[in-house]
Amino acid sequence: MIKRDLTLQQTPAPFVTKVHFGHELLYSQAWMDILNGLKLRLVTIADSHIQALLVDKWAAFLKKQGISITKLSFPAGEDSKTREMKARLEDELFAHQCGKDTAIIAIGGGVATDLAGYVASTFCRGVPFLSIPTTLLCMVDAVIGGKTGVNTPFGKNLVGTYYPADHILIDTTTLSTLPDREWRNGLAEIIKHGLIRSPKLFQKLVDGHSLWVKRDHEFLQEVIYDSFLIKKEVVEVDFQETGYRRILNFGHTVAHAIELLENYRIAHGEAVAIGMVAEANLSHKLGLLDKAVCEQIEHVLKLYEFPLAVSDKLTFENLLGAMMLDKKAKQAKPRFVLLEAIGSPAAFNGAYCTTIDDALLQEVIISTLSQYRGAS
Ligand SMILES: NC(=O)c1ccc[n+]([C@@H]2O[C@H](COP(=O)([O-])OP(=O)(O)OC[C@H]3O[C@@H](n4cnc5c(N)ncnc54)[C@H](O)[C@@H]3O)[C@@H](O)[C@H]2O)c1
Repeated sequence: MIKRDLTLQQTPAPFVTKVHFGHELLYSQAWMDILNGLKLRLVTIADSHIQALLVDKWAAFLKKQGISITKLSFPAGEDSKTREMKARLEDELFAHQCGKDTAIIAIGGGVATDLAGYVASTFCRGVPFLSIPTTLLCMVDAVIGGKTGVNTPFGKNLVGTYYPADHILIDTTTLSTLPDREWRNGLAEIIKHGLIRSPKLFQKLVDGHSLWVKRDHEFLQEVIYDSFLIKKEVVEVDFQETGYRRILNFGHTVAHAIELLENYRIAHGEAVAIGMVAEANLSHKLGLLDKAVCEQIEHVLKLYEFPLAVSDKLTFENLLGAMMLDKKAKQAKPRFVLLEAIGSPAAFNGAYCTTIDDALLQEVIISTLSQYRGAS
């Protein structure tokens, strides 16, 4: 009989992502060289909308350069981020005789990068993955940090992997076709990045509003790059979200609850805007944050025309119920990321989120809801 206790050392190679950031990169020779250099079969996964808007033309261009790709697509929208869609895409890959010799290229918003990244992470136990974000939200948020996954009937993003892309190509030229609502979804995350990490970025947004309205390219590139770097720095410190990465959740405990109660009919950025106001008010009531900063936050959100309106459907009781489902909740009590100043989240012994006394939570949520009820 052998009885031994052993340690099996299986250190994975560190995840390294090469990021290519700039203007007019998608059709550049440098990007063609990277694709050619992979010496793999290339498969794009995009939603139906981006397939028609961008991928078909790009694939035709690549063909002229001698690079052939297989194009897979799925119906545009969050409803496609499912286990069933992942299985369908995997079957399509097999039907195209794809195997370990394949690199998957996600092109599109966060739905495409989350879904295709998840496929890449498990297809033949993991194949090379490249990611090309084309929404603002994806450029400054979803594409960074390696989280992939799908939604389930029990909640959003509940099944997935950490699987950072080998290459991320951020070509800001692709934003030229983005609808206003999608700009605002990304902007809410950029404002949040300023609030949790960078007074400088926050001030840049205050000063640069007219440049934003004009979609001034230099200005946009600057704030997208600043914002990208903030998320990069956060995930480099705490890749698997054991503490510090939670700061990215500022505004989101309340926002996710609002989205759930509104059946996702409210835009994510609009819910995050209300969530940031509510969670800044909580920070103030706990004596952490000056009232003047809460006013500054509200001012910026109004400047950028976030509607800051809530429907009669939202009450403290149903909001509390929805907030208990948040991933940060502990013993059925929601936890919140709070601020001490612009750029400084409160640490709470390294947890970067905390529960709040019931009475105080009720007072702040009710006053925030009544302030914005019916407003628009
Ligand atoms: N992995 C992460 O860390 C992370 C972080 C944040 C969000 N997410 C996920 O990201 C998803 C939301 O991403 P999203 O907001 O990009 O949504 P999305 O992928 O659904 O894109 C929004 C819409 O914009 C269209 N679109 C994309 N690029 C366009 C362009 N350049 N021009 C015109 N239309 C364009 C898409 O076809 C789609 O209709 C959610 O599923 C969310 O859970 C993931």
